[in-house]
Formats: sequence, C-alpha cells, structure tokens
Amino acid sequence: MRKQLIWDLPTRLFHWLLVASIAAQYVTAEWMDDATQWHFYIGYFTLGLLVFRLIWGVIGPTYARFSQFVKGPSAVIGYLRTLFDKNSAAVAGHNPLGGWFVVVMLLLLLVQAVSGLFMTDDIFLDGPYRHLVSGSTLDLMNTLHHLAFDILLWVIGLHVAAIGFYAVYKKQKLVPPMFHGQKDTEDKPIPSSRLWLALAVALVTAAALYYAIEIAPPAPEVEEYF
Ligand code: HEM
Ligand code: HEM
Repeated sequence: MRKQLIWDLPTRLFHWLLVASIAAQYVTAEWMDDATQWHFYIGYFTLGLLVFRLIWGVIGPTYARFSQFVKGPSAVIGYLRTLFDKNSAAVAGHNPLGGWFVVVMLLLLLVQAVSGLFMTDDIFLDGPYRHLVSGSTLDLMNTLHHLAFDILLWVIGLHVAAIGFYAVYKKQKLVPPMFHGQKDTEDKPIPSSRLWLALAVALVTAAALYYAIEIAPPAPEVEEYF
C-alpha cells in the first residue's frame, strides 16, 4: 500500500478551523465577560465555514463529497458488523457510520450558528435578525441555541471517543491524515486539492454572508421617549 492523498487541504483546514472556532465560542460564551462581540464575529466565521463545507460537499474532490460518504442503511449495517473486527480494512474516506456522524455534526452546528443570528445578550448586543421575528420565535431560537450546544457536546465527545477507539482497538490512526491528507490505501487518490476552486467558493461564501449579516437586515426601529 502507498501513501495517497485522500483529504484535500480545504477539508483539513475546515476541520481544524472549525475545532478552534467551537472552542472559542465556548470560551467567549461561558468563561469570558464582555466577549459577546467576539462571540458574534467568531459565530459568523463559523457559519461561513459551514456554508463553505456544504458547497464543498457537492463540488469538492471525491472524498469530501456527501455522495461519497453518505450511505444507505444496508451499507451502515454491513459496516457495523465489521466494527469490532480488528482486521477489517481501513476505509479511504469517511466510513458509512462516520459519514452519518459528520452529517449530524454539521446539522447541529448549522442550527447553532443560525439560531445565534436571532440571539441577544439582553444588554447591548443583538444578533442581526433579532428584530425581524416575534417573541415566540426568539424564545425558540434561544432554546435551540442552548439545546443544540448541549447535544453537540455529547456528539463531539462521541466523535473524539470513536477516533480513540480506532487508534487503540483497531490500530487505525485517523488523526495524522486529517493533518497531512495522506492515507495508506489501495483506493484511488484525489489528483489535487482544487485550491483555486476552494478560494472562489470561500470568496463567494464570504460575500454572501456579508450581505446577509451586514446589508440585508433592516435597522431596528429606534424608540423615542419624550
Ligand atoms: C469541536 C470539536 C470537533 C468538531 C465539531 C469536529 C467535527 C468534525 C467533522 C465535521 C468532521 C468531518 C470532516 C469533513 O469531512 O469535513 C470531522 C472529521 C474528523 N475529525 Fe473532528 N471534530 C472535532 C474535534 C476533533 C478532534 C479533537 C479530533 C482529534 C482527536 C478530531 C479528529 C477528526 C478526524 C480524524 C476526522 C476524520 C475522520 C475519518 O477519518 O473519517 N476531531 N470532525
Ligand atoms: C456555531 C456557532 C456558535 C456556537 C458554537 C455558539 C455557542 C454558544 C454557547 C455554548 C452559548 C452559551 C449557552 C449557555 O449558556 O447555555 C452561547 C450563547 C450565546 N450566543 Fe452563541 N454560538 C454560536 C453562534 C452564535 C452567533 C452567530 C450569535 C449571534 C450573532 C450568537 C449569540 C449568542 C448570544 C447572544 C449568547 C448569550 C445568550 C445568553 O445570554 O444566554 N452565537 N453560544
């Protein structure tokens, strides 16, 4: 078996920037006073990462594509049967079970980032869409923002535990390939990371989010008191 390029650079960058962003979101919300503005900015950046990944999952290189790793129930059940087999062959991209984990994590993170746009710190800062919805929608968004994170913590815990299980029990080291992109595999490698395409997607995503966050939401009505 030869070392082959499996994870493109944009997918790897996405992953580690996402990890850093989620950690920063936790710290700015839970541990720091007066960091709400930073929480907003990093939240917008995280939303950008997620939008990028959704597009990349359609037009990115083979192993980044949802169509490559989101499999039906029979593939998942077939894979589950080999889960505790120490000699089962390593999968080049995400395995059929891990693929669904990725989908769940991305969906939860999307709920987290989008619900954030409707949040307020109840003092100085409002998310850009807070003024556009009714009180009951705000309550729902608030509940989702808290609930999604509680679920996310469990899912992330399971994600890291699964990586540990593969390293210790199955002797498959999944973390180094998420840094250098290469795996020992007979499967077809990707020819390149498609960096120019990734740059174009990142720029379009940034422009769309700038529009959605800074330009599109109408300014809140100012209440005047005499
Ligand atoms: C905030 C915490 C984390 C989140 C939200 C997260 C999320 C994700 C997501 C969404 C993917 C899919 C990547 C893609 O296809 O775009 C992934 C894959 C992966 N993550 Fe994480 N991750 C987190 C922490 C970690 C940590 C701490 C490690 C290292 C111990 C890690 C190791 C990996 C590996 C090795 C993969 C590839 C798995 C495979 O080979 O199928 N992750 N993660
Ligand atoms: C994926 C991105 C995000 C993550 C992981 C995240 C995470 C969190 C967490 C863990 C909390 C604390 C919840 C608690 O105390 O139980 C929080 C609170 C908060 N978040 Fe986010 N957040 C994200 C995006 C955003 C965005 C985009 C905004 C606004 C533009 C936002 C606005 C707020 C506000 C205002 C609070 C304080 C709510 C309160 O006072 O209880 N968040 N967030």
